[in-house]
Amino acid sequence: TGHVTLDTGFVNTAACESAITYIDGDSGILRYRGYPIEQLARQSTFIEVSYLLIYGELPTQAELDAFTDRLRIHTLVHEEMRRFFDGFPRDAHPMAVLSSGVSALSTFYQDSLDPFDEEHVQASTIRLLAKVPTIAAYAYKKSIGMPPMYPDNSLEYVENFLRMTFGMPTTPYDVDPYIAKALDQLFVLHADHEQNCSTSTVRMVGSSHANLFASVSAGVNALFGPLHGGANSAVLQMLSRIAADGGDITSFVNRVKNRDDNVRLMGFGHRVYKHYDPRAAIVKETARQVIDRMPQPDHLLELAMQLEEIALADEYFVSRKLYPNVDFYTGLIYKAMGFPTPMFTVLFALGRLPGWIAQWREMIADPATKIGRPRQVYIGEQERDYRPIDQR
Ligand code: CMC
Repeated sequence: TGHVTLDTGFVNTAACESAITYIDGDSGILRYRGYPIEQLARQSTFIEVSYLLIYGELPTQAELDAFTDRLRIHTLVHEEMRRFFDGFPRDAHPMAVLSSGVSALSTFYQDSLDPFDEEHVQASTIRLLAKVPTIAAYAYKKSIGMPPMYPDNSLEYVENFLRMTFGMPTTPYDVDPYIAKALDQLFVLHADHEQNCSTSTVRMVGSSHANLFASVSAGVNALFGPLHGGANSAVLQMLSRIAADGGDITSFVNRVKNRDDNVRLMGFGHRVYKHYDPRAAIVKETARQVIDRMPQPDHLLELAMQLEEIALADEYFVSRKLYPNVDFYTGLIYKAMGFPTPMFTVLFALGRLPGWIAQWREMIADPATKIGRPRQVYIGEQERDYRPIDQR
C-alpha cells in the first residue's frame, strides 16, 4: 500500500485545499477571504462576516438584508425540542447540551439533510445560524434553573442572544449596545481559523457525507476540550487559582516551566502562530475597555497582564515562541459581561459556527474531496496463535 509517513497531530500534513482563511503564523497575519482580521473586527459585523465566509464575498445591502431576514424567521426551535432540554440534569455542561441540541436538529429538520441538494444545504445553513443561539441560551437557562426565553425577532442577532440569555419573561430587558457590539466583535474574531481541531472534525465527519447538523455537532464536541475552545474557561480557572493562592505569578510560571503536574500556561501557545496572535491583540484592547466600564473593575485583568509580561520576558516562552492566543483575554471579557465560566466555550462555538459551515460546504462542493481516512504505523504484536482461556 505504498509509503506511509507518520505525522502525529497533522503538524505537516495538509488535508485539503481551501480558499476561505489565510494564516501566516510567523508574521501574525489572519485574513478571511483576503480581508485582514483587523479591518473586519473594527468595521464589519458578525452577520456580514458569516455571509463573507459562507458565500465568498461581502454582501451588497440587498443581499445582507435578505440574509438577515432569513435568519430572523428561523430563530425559533421546534416546540417539541424544548422538552428535549428537560431531560438533562440541571448541572449539565452547556457544551454537552449544545452538541446534543445541534445533533437533534437532524431529527427535527429531516427535510434539509441531503449534502448534495443545494436547497437543503441552504436551509440547514440558515437553520443552524439562526437556531444555535437559541439552543445555547436554552442550555444556559436550564443550568440556572430559569425558564427559557423565546427569541425576539425585532432584535439584531447578538442582541437577541443576549436577551434570551440574560432576560426574564416577566421583565423588559434592555440590551447594552456597547456589550452587544463587543460580543459581535468577539464573534467576528472567532468566526474561522482554517483547519483547527473542530473544523477538521466537521470536515472529517462530513467527508462520509453525513449531514451538516451531524458534522457541526461533532465540531462542538471537538471544541469542548481544554486544549481548544475549552481554553477560555481554563484561563479563568487558572487566573482565579493564582489569585486564590496569593497572586504569586512567578511561582506559577516556575511550575509551568518545571512541568509540575503537567500544568500549562493556558491561553498561551498555538500550533500555527509563532508570533503574537493578531486576534489576541484586538481582544486585549477590548478587555481593557469592557472591564474599565464595570463598577468594580476585575483585578484578574491586572493579574493576566502581569502574567503575560512575565511570560513574554521568560526564556522558556521566548525560545518556544509561545505568545498569548485568542483565549487568553476572552474569558475576562465574558466574565465582565456576566457569563458564567462554563458558557465561555459556548460563546466560542457561536462565533465559530459560520466557519464550520463554510468549510463543510467547501468540502462538499470540492470534487477532489475523498472520505477522510488517515493511515497508521502499526507497532503491535506480530501474528500469534489463539490460546484457550485455561492456558493463559
Ligand atoms: N504552556 C507551557 N508550555 C507550552 C505551552 C503552554 N501553554 N504550549 C506549548 N508549550 C511547550 C510544550 O511543552 C513544548 O515544549 P517542548 O518542546 O520543550 O516539549 C513546546 O511548547 C511546543 O508545544 P506543543 O505542545 O508541541 O505545541 P502544539 O502545537 O502541539 O500545541 C497548543 C498547541 C495550543 C495545544 C498548546 O500550545 C497548548 O496546550 N496551549 C494551552 C491551551 C490553549 O491555550 N489552547 C488554545 C489554543 S488557541 C484557540 C483554540 O484553538 O481554541
